[in-house]
Amino acid sequence: MNAAIINLAYLLAVTLFILGLKGLSHPRTAVRGNQLGATGMLIAIVATLLDRQILSFEWILLGMVIGSLVGAVMAVRVAMTAMPQMVALLNGFGGAASALVAGANLVESTLPNAQLPAPLLQLTIAAAVSSLIGAITFWGSLVAFAKLQGLISENPLQVSFLHYINGLMLLVAIGLCGILALNPAVLSYYWALLVVASLVGVLLVIPIGGADMPVVIALLNSYSGLAAAATGFVLNNNALIITGSLVGASGVILTTIMCRAMNRSLRNVLFGVWVPSEAGPKAEDVYAGKVKAASPEDVALLLEGARSVVIVPGYGMAVAQAQHAVRDLMQILEKQGITVEFAIHPVAGRMPGHMNVLLAEADVPYDRLKEMDEINPRFEQVDVAIVIGANDVVNPLARTDPNSPIAGMPILDVDKARSVVVIKRSLSPGFAGIPNPLFAADNTLMLFADAREGVQQIIAALKAK
Ligand code: TAP
Repeated sequence: MNAAIINLAYLLAVTLFILGLKGLSHPRTAVRGNQLGATGMLIAIVATLLDRQILSFEWILLGMVIGSLVGAVMAVRVAMTAMPQMVALLNGFGGAASALVAGANLVESTLPNAQLPAPLLQLTIAAAVSSLIGAITFWGSLVAFAKLQGLISENPLQVSFLHYINGLMLLVAIGLCGILALNPAVLSYYWALLVVASLVGVLLVIPIGGADMPVVIALLNSYSGLAAAATGFVLNNNALIITGSLVGASGVILTTIMCRAMNRSLRNVLFGVWVPSEAGPKAEDVYAGKVKAASPEDVALLLEGARSVVIVPGYGMAVAQAQHAVRDLMQILEKQGITVEFAIHPVAGRMPGHMNVLLAEADVPYDRLKEMDEINPRFEQVDVAIVIGANDVVNPLARTDPNSPIAGMPILDVDKARSVVVIKRSLSPGFAGIPNPLFAADNTLMLFADAREGVQQIIAALKAK
């Protein structure tokens, strides 16, 4: 097919990708953004199929059927709380696909009876780079998956010499990239590069604790984009180059946002080991004699006297799958003329947008969801803040204790509300492993329960009045 028409189709596809990404930046426009992106992908696939006649359509169809079946089963079976590891797998496969396609192109063009022209230096460099980044992404993502799925220990490894070994191996891999680019016909260099890059991927991720995996996954997502862009150069496919670059850039932006919201540097996530601070206050000192347990009836009574309520969801809401019960509570309170809003912290839960996705699934209207900067100045006017399975994102130690592992992390200023109700099962710490003085504050009541059961009990108590 005419190259100009194919390139025009690609231009249309990437324009739709960019508009789709823009749409995805706000919940209200996200569905439309998704549709635009999907349309762009359809155009790109059709254009590619019309352009390339190397592979027969039977093979393409077979791949699509197998891929669709596996994807559909996974989409139905994977729990919301397992989404981070699912995303890790998808990134990993993207990286592997890029590395293999680049490698296959290299192999094919160097065969004695090659149908492709001998590769130019820039193409062999791109193939080597794609293989390097793709293999790192694949193996790094598999380790991230295994950690989050509990297949291997989630604990961080405090072996500092691992970083030196890894740095050395990365240098070897880069050297092999150069050698392969200059000698594309010697395929043993390609395989050697894949092996060394795979080891780098494993060693890069294995020392990092499971709790930091979401940040690592966002970074690996960015790598998978870079690998795809490099493969775009190998295949001389403009759509792949631009799309890969978009994924690479958005992955870096997401990584930066997550690091900022946790007040950590990327270097600290990748090379530091986050262990709970010894210097911080002990749980016994923070809680002894100060924690007030409440019953669902006490909470219902408090809510009846309120005019404004802010619900603060956290990881525990995801674990308990309490979002539907939370939506019911919102509706009951609103029927009584109470204003209900949701305060969303950027790193509440375990993946970006975790709370937004759960609340959207339960049909909580987007306009009730308030971001941290918007809601924080208003907490003093809030009658009751209900914290549901959140801990670190409402921990005032981030403001007051410079030695705390979360020192400086922006938090939701829940403690400034007139009354606070915290629903969680115990006084156990959250992800950061530190006590939370909010639970012992004068204006806080603790409802010790599973998040879903606790909210359902409050609803029952409200209905019984
Ligand atoms: P956390 O601080 O992790 O606290 C979650 C709390 O939920 C726990 O204290 C736990 O207490 C409670 N919980 C667990 N299961 C529950 C259940 N079934 N019912 C009720 N409560 C339950 O959560 P957070 O406030 O959402 O903060 C997120 C943390 O993860 C931050 O430190 C953040 O930096 C980190 N992190 C987030 C991300 C992203 S992108 N979101 C990525 C990496 C790290 P009990 O056991 O007592 O119930």
